[in-house]
Amino acid sequence: MKKFQSPKGTRDVLPAEQKYWRQVEQVLDSLARIFGYERLDLPVFESTALFQRGVGTGTDIVEKEMYTFTDKGGDSMTLRPEFTAGVIRAYLENGMASRPKPVKLWSYGPIFRYERPQAGRYRQFTQFNIEAIGEMDPALDFEIMSAAWQLFSDLKFRNLCFQINSIGCPACRPGYMEQLKAHFRSHEKDLCGDCRNRLEKNPLRLLDCKKETCKPLADRAPRAADFLCKECADHFETLKRYLDSMAMPYTVNPRLVRGLDYYTKTVFEVWAEGIGAQNAVCGGGRYDGLAEILGGPPTPGIGFAAGIERLVMTLMHQQIPVPETGRPDVYVACQDPKAMPEAVRLATLLRQAGTPAVLGFGGRSLKAQLREADNRGARFTAIIGEEELGKQAVQVRDMTKAVQEQLSWTDLITRFRRPRD
Ligand code: HAM
Repeated sequence: MKKFQSPKGTRDVLPAEQKYWRQVEQVLDSLARIFGYERLDLPVFESTALFQRGVGTGTDIVEKEMYTFTDKGGDSMTLRPEFTAGVIRAYLENGMASRPKPVKLWSYGPIFRYERPQAGRYRQFTQFNIEAIGEMDPALDFEIMSAAWQLFSDLKFRNLCFQINSIGCPACRPGYMEQLKAHFRSHEKDLCGDCRNRLEKNPLRLLDCKKETCKPLADRAPRAADFLCKECADHFETLKRYLDSMAMPYTVNPRLVRGLDYYTKTVFEVWAEGIGAQNAVCGGGRYDGLAEILGGPPTPGIGFAAGIERLVMTLMHQQIPVPETGRPDVYVACQDPKAMPEAVRLATLLRQAGTPAVLGFGGRSLKAQLREADNRGARFTAIIGEEELGKQAVQVRDMTKAVQEQLSWTDLITRFRRPRD
């Protein structure tokens, strides 16, 4: 019979990896609290038109990567390929515009893109996403970037590269696009097929083509920063001043453009070393026109998303220690199977006191049970031996020091009692 496998581009997160996920989730949770973000949960699928309009029909995401289906009512739906469009939809739909600005929201969950799978690139992956909506001030751009900064420093990452750029606004971008098109048109015969196709529709994307033939042309292309209107140039300068004043290292990368159409002014990415070609651990920027594109009033916004699988890969690659999870405090063993009813009771009482406790099943020898306790990483084993039987007592063995003492059940439970989280 056919053996089932997880679908291409998806992965199982096995128990051994869970401690890294838990560490990341705890850091994210406290980051959101420190920076004053409130949690927003969104549906996993939305109307296809939301992403077509929000992310842009000329993007790879909308053109090639969406999981789109027609539901039984005949409506076209899409598994979310990102959070931002959905967040703005929810902001407009739920009247959040009447709240004090900026409205700060965070979301967490699975994202779906039909991409070519490789290390660090999946078809189902997980994003942590933050958005700050309703404020133009470049101090907010700084705040968003410093949240990314703090995230990586709390995770104890080393060797990160912060890349920033400004791609202008509807006032200055058209002029820049014309210059960009003219530059690439004059080298059209040297461009790869993809770039030739994108040249008229989305010339910005030519700047981050990875093909060896296109890279030198992209390097020589006009730079967005040289075509910014006064407002965009001032905005970018102020942001850089904030970053400098807090000594946050960054690189201005004139070729940094992002794969989504809604961006205006500030864009940024953070790259991690050593996790392979898919090294962007987070990406984001401003999207001052998105709410209008989605039928709302003019509403500026800025945010970023980080890919959790890549954060976990970086933790593992950089061998950053994380707290162990799932180790029981106490393994309850019995020397003789006739003590089993007492062992069952003791394990139950320990758990009721909040103590992670594991019970030795199956009437095996004490030696086998101690071996299992060791394999499970139990800190202590409580043994009901011949002498303890019927006396509500146990021999408690410290598994690292291999020393043993007799304790009453009451003392054992008091010693290992844990307050619930
Ligand atoms: P994005 O750059 O497309 O931006 O994705 C953000 C992050 O998600 C990436 O930096 C990466 O860590 C992770 N990621 C993206 N694609 C994959 C994949 N196929 N497999 C694994 N991880 C992946 C956005 O999605 C924007 N909505 C971010 C944003 C929020 N901009 C403003 N606000």
